Amino acid sequence: MTARQQPKNLWIGRWGFVLAATGSAVGLGNIWKFPYMTGEYGGGAFVLVYLACILCIGIPAMMTEIAFGRRGRGSPIDAVKRVAQESGRGKIWSGFGWMSMLAGFMILSFYVVVAGWSLAYLWKAISGGLQGGSVEDMAAIFGANNANPLTLGAWSTLVTVVTMFIVGKGVQEGIERSMRWMMPGMVLLLLAMIVYAMFSGGFGEAVTFLFSFEVGKLSSAGLLAAMGHAFFTLSLSAGAIMAYGAYLPDSKSIARTTFTVAICDTLIALMAGLAIFPAIFANGMDPASGPGLIFMSLPLAFQQMPLGNVLQVIFFVMLSVAALTSAVSMIEATVAWLTERKGMSRKRAAWSSGIVLWLLSTLAMLSFNLGADWTLAGKTVFDWLDYLTSRWMMPLGGLGLCLMAGFLLRDEIFRDELRLSRRQHALWLLMVRYVSPLGIVLIFIDALGVMSIDIGSQWPWFLAVLVAITVLGEMLSPRVRRQLVG
Ligand code: PFF
Repeated sequence: MTARQQPKNLWIGRWGFVLAATGSAVGLGNIWKFPYMTGEYGGGAFVLVYLACILCIGIPAMMTEIAFGRRGRGSPIDAVKRVAQESGRGKIWSGFGWMSMLAGFMILSFYVVVAGWSLAYLWKAISGGLQGGSVEDMAAIFGANNANPLTLGAWSTLVTVVTMFIVGKGVQEGIERSMRWMMPGMVLLLLAMIVYAMFSGGFGEAVTFLFSFEVGKLSSAGLLAAMGHAFFTLSLSAGAIMAYGAYLPDSKSIARTTFTVAICDTLIALMAGLAIFPAIFANGMDPASGPGLIFMSLPLAFQQMPLGNVLQVIFFVMLSVAALTSAVSMIEATVAWLTERKGMSRKRAAWSSGIVLWLLSTLAMLSFNLGADWTLAGKTVFDWLDYLTSRWMMPLGGLGLCLMAGFLLRDEIFRDELRLSRRQHALWLLMVRYVSPLGIVLIFIDALGVMSIDIGSQWPWFLAVLVAITVLGEMLSPRVRRQLVG
């Protein structure tokens, strides 16, 4: 197949893709995970490596995914297959498309549970159910929230239904239209919280915490977590960005849109930090309180503040909107595949994948109550879904796509799609061939536990390995490419 695929659906507005992709990227990862990870891994030092990971690994990988999507003009499975075939490669390579789609589906199954927490907390904030004088009281509220499978299940079901409703309505009518008001709305709410924080104490401390880079605080665990999070927060290797990329008009620049999305995503994560940490510091709480930060420490902090109740409602509305715009993107790959391959209507595709999703997410939800003992190697269903996707499937998918684009497929395809200058293209190639893969391999080594990584003292070695692989790879690759691609 050499002819370029013709698009079926395209974003219509000038900002269609940017809004939808930013909606996908900005989610619980930014508002829930990023702040608590920053807290756990020492503040500014973590922020700095996170920024470096976004720049060196996330952005090149995102450009690659969008290029695959736009060139193949189809669900990730078809897009990867078509691009591979265009380079004379077999169908087998679509395996990476399959893995991305499956990863998106599996992430969504536990993501709806956390999004359900957010809705439950919104309801509690409105109805005055978040009262308590201590962290223990808040922990008790969180525990009670999770203990009842019926109410917890009802909230995650609601998230699933709304997601399927939006996706079922279609790319332009459902996704693009809803993003047009949800994204600006979310940013306004976030700004309101930051302005409030500026005038109510703790803001200076939060700024120092987030932006003072103390090299000594940089840990290997922090670096690896930052790398993994760069993938998660940019929605990479989960089918979402590739599926959205399939609807990107030919006239748009992939590089420019990628940078816009990555910058918006990063700014919103930092803004979430600026909205959350002041309340934590103003009330003398621990910024390193882990995943419970926004469900336990923050509600407690809000209670001590004037207008805290209003802020609390604003915060959970924002969190729910962010979660929803991401949830929508995670299922798009599956829905696109069902409509293209199985001939289903969009509605039918959305609702039928919704049913399967609901069953899987119910299992994930039960991990917090009835199924708390259903464990394998000490992990519940919820933990397994998270572990398999974030530690294995996303990095593996990212590695596969980068290496395919870097070594296996025709370079003209990517020149044609990315339209970079010679220098920029060489830089992109360097990143997808060597820098991203080496970073991802480190994540695997860490996940396997075969070697303890201490970046702090071993970084000269890592740098030497990177340089050696790059030199060797570049010496070998023209020959290898001639043999492989012909
Ligand atoms: N980027 C989202 C977040 O930061 O919450 C999570 C996500 C969305 C992951 C879509 C994967 C995906 F396909």
